[in-house]
Amino acid sequence: MVIARNTRPVPHSPVQARSLAHGADPMPEIMEMPASDSVSEADFKTAMRQVASSVAVITARSGRARNGLTATAVCSVSVDPPTMLVCINRSATADGLIDESGAFAINFLADEQHRIARLFSTAKLSSEERFAEGRWTALATGSPVLDGAVATFDCRVVETVPSGTHHIYFGRVVGVTSLDEEALLYRDGSFRRLAAIG
Ligand SMILES: Cc1cc2nc3c(=O)[nH]c(=O)nc-3n(C[C@H](O)[C@H](O)[C@H](O)COP(=O)(O)O)c2cc1C
Repeated sequence: MVIARNTRPVPHSPVQARSLAHGADPMPEIMEMPASDSVSEADFKTAMRQVASSVAVITARSGRARNGLTATAVCSVSVDPPTMLVCINRSATADGLIDESGAFAINFLADEQHRIARLFSTAKLSSEERFAEGRWTALATGSPVLDGAVATFDCRVVETVPSGTHHIYFGRVVGVTSLDEEALLYRDGSFRRLAAIG
């Protein structure tokens, strides 16, 4: 049984649609979804659209080649040793560069860097087009690091786990930078800004 708290529920099945239609106040409701071993791709995507995420550009360099991609599937794993993970589609240009170099950098973007997020998520743009925007340097691994990013993590790959269409790369963090700037967010198909409550 999957239990989901949802203040504005999106029906994922006829059973839930009926339950939502008859429930007067969905605010504190806990929906019990029918047990199932699988969900449709459409339902999975609909649920993921509700999730707000920080936006990062993952970069890598192998020899003279460098590239990267916009990513939200990025997570801190442990503090000791400092470890991050990124989920990279095997078809992404940067996947091969991470594999070859054994390193990557995570650049969490500031909201004013949204154009860079678009460049690195527009399919198969050249390295020149993507790195034309912003000032790029490097820390320990040589992976491109963006000036003005809210946080950057320079990582050496310590483990690679294939999972479906993606590779999950675990990276030991060997360099960091951070700035007290407003982070760029992504939710429901749009880049967004943070807004304070109250
Ligand atoms: C907001 C957003 C988040 C994304 N997150 C990921 C991600 O976590 N992993 C991934 O492999 N692709 C992700 N993508 C898709 C890649 O950015 C996109 O496919 C990119 O063009 C791949 O690089 P390539 O064109 O050089 O192959 C995301 C795209 C957007 C717009």
